[in-house]
Amino acid sequence: MYWSNHVDPAKAGDWRHPRPVPSGPGVPIELEDTLIVLTWNDFESFSAVMAERGEQVAAVITEPAVFNTGCIMPEPGYLELLRSETQKHGALLIFDEVITGFRFARGGAQEWFNVMPDITTMAKGLGGGFPVAAIGGTREVMSIIAEGRYSHSGTYNANVVACAAVSATMDLLAEPGLYERQRNKGYRLASGLTSLAEAAGIPVRVEGVGTVFQVWFSDVPIRNWRDAEANAGEAIFTQWYREMLTRGVLFHPSHLENLFVSLVHTDEDIDQTLEAAADALAVIARTR
Ligand SMILES: Cc1ncc(COP(=O)(O)O)c(C=O)c1O
Repeated sequence: MYWSNHVDPAKAGDWRHPRPVPSGPGVPIELEDTLIVLTWNDFESFSAVMAERGEQVAAVITEPAVFNTGCIMPEPGYLELLRSETQKHGALLIFDEVITGFRFARGGAQEWFNVMPDITTMAKGLGGGFPVAAIGGTREVMSIIAEGRYSHSGTYNANVVACAAVSATMDLLAEPGLYERQRNKGYRLASGLTSLAEAAGIPVRVEGVGTVFQVWFSDVPIRNWRDAEANAGEAIFTQWYREMLTRGVLFHPSHLENLFVSLVHTDEDIDQTLEAAADALAVIARTR
């Protein structure tokens, strides 16, 4: 069930006590009572909810870095707080690694940030382009399925083609030095874009981890979706997207999506992108 993802801020209520908003029709409103939505990176509201209602909380689910809204990094200690509070109150911690998984570390964001959840959801990078998704978890959690206490059946479960794709992808990603090489390409692109924007006098924050990031056109930090909604200039991003497209570089058109440096990108691609960005940013600076 999809709740409170890029919804109308007016409907989402106060940021300290957000109101869950279904992200489309067909979601029974009764489910609202089973859900608490919190503002990301807000240590106090999370601690307060766990202190008041921790014993009722079955699980806390989040992306370990929010890549479903551009790129938003966890502030130092935030994931650790989620881990320690869930452990304290006997709730499960679920990391949605559908985007973060395998992108900048083979062990996902949990390896990168060194915070281990109880359950992980994976897809996208898992199959190297093949349509496949998976969940994993601690032995204790997964034994619920293994011992038949929960039925997890489905047409495409353990589909051989998907499993072969996952196996091949995992072998490829095990090549020593592969992630360092790709992350370094990404860091060079990110720092190049930051310097070019600074030189052009355009407020930009390039946020992410190596191979996945986003260019926020904002002069204030983006700590959660509401910050992005309020401060990340959509109009200027659209202009940037169009200027880059004209110069042969295709980014995602939405300022709430991301930019990926994948295994097929070369150093020459990074150079070309930076050359195009210098021209695109100059045009944006002239027309602001
Ligand atoms: C962060 C995140 N989680 C979950 C999903 C949905 O994954 P699936 O299509 O495997 O259900 C998406 C889809 O784009 C996503 O970006």
